[in-house]
Amino acid sequence: MHFLITGGAGFLGSHLTDALVARGDEVTVLDDLSTGRARNLSPAAGLAFVEGSVLDRDLVERLTARADCAVHLAAKVGVRLILDSPRETIETNVEGTRHVLDACARHGKRVLLASSSEVYGLSEELPFREDAPVLRGATSEPRWCYASSKELGERLALAYARESGLDVRIARFFNVVGPRQRGRYGMVLPNFVRQALSGEPITVFGDGTQTRSFLHVADWVRAVSSLLEVPAARGEVVNVGSPREVAIERVGRLVRERLASSSPIVHMPYREVYGIRTPDLVRRVPDTAKLEALTGFRAELSLEEAIDDLARERGAVPSR
Ligand SMILES: NC(=O)c1ccc[n+]([C@@H]2O[C@H](COP(=O)([O-])OP(=O)(O)OC[C@H]3O[C@@H](n4cnc5c(N)ncnc54)[C@H](O)[C@@H]3O)[C@@H](O)[C@H]2O)c1
Repeated sequence: MHFLITGGAGFLGSHLTDALVARGDEVTVLDDLSTGRARNLSPAAGLAFVEGSVLDRDLVERLTARADCAVHLAAKVGVRLILDSPRETIETNVEGTRHVLDACARHGKRVLLASSSEVYGLSEELPFREDAPVLRGATSEPRWCYASSKELGERLALAYARESGLDVRIARFFNVVGPRQRGRYGMVLPNFVRQALSGEPITVFGDGTQTRSFLHVADWVRAVSSLLEVPAARGEVVNVGSPREVAIERVGRLVRERLASSSPIVHMPYREVYGIRTPDLVRRVPDTAKLEALTGFRAELSLEEAIDDLARERGAVPSR
């Protein structure tokens, strides 16, 4: 198979690219290197890298025509980036997605669309099920630009499926973690690991009672590869994440313990971190029954293993 992976030089895309190339598939990566890095991709037979944007409609069209299947990961991601560039976030995540969906519909190609747990917004019906209503904050709060853009991408994809018969699979990713993830745009685990290894304070935003769930990127690759293949996933919205819920304060302590760090844990109010009042979501954990029923997938790696792998990437040896 020949895959087009948009955003393939990013954290998730580069891991998927590695796995597909290793099993003998052909991969074309389209990435503008805005948050991704060319060095995430090791040169390999069967891998082609195209530096360009999903906003370039003709380019997306040409690359889609040559592939058998697309995985659309390119997006503006990360709280910091979204608060700084809400217009670019909406443009990339909606317009770029429209280009990919449109090209796939016209050329009859299967596509997997990256969505996010952020789509659930302020919903409090936990664990989140794919058919639960979604709830946004005020339009004056720029943080919701990302969730709204991902929601619109999903709606557009389902509209293409209904009106043009597009074979689309929508995956709502919950926090995925592991090597190559960068802390620059507000991702919690790489920041904690970097802080713990350098002896800097581990900065927990808010009071630390907010919870998240973390899926190791190697598990994520298995889940996404299955969703791309199983016929029953066609036209479905599916959570991809770990059902293990952990408070952020606990994550900070875990990182400190595993890396034998003496970093203190400090709390920072959101207003201080982001310069504006922005709400955080209190709990976020997926119902993974649908993913399991469709693919048989179960997470095999733990948060602890992700912490160790992030530390090893920085040349450190985890303490246990
Ligand atoms: N990592 C997670 O935990 C997580 C959770 C939920 C959803 N997601 C989604 O998964 C996808 C991949 O996220 P990631 O964590 O790998 O982030 P990432 O920033 O590492 O990857 C995004 C990639 O898209 C590229 N990109 C951005 N704008 C582009 C454009 N206009 N044209 C071409 N390429 C462009 C970036 O350079 C980068 O390589 C995104 O769609 C994101 O919304 C990720």
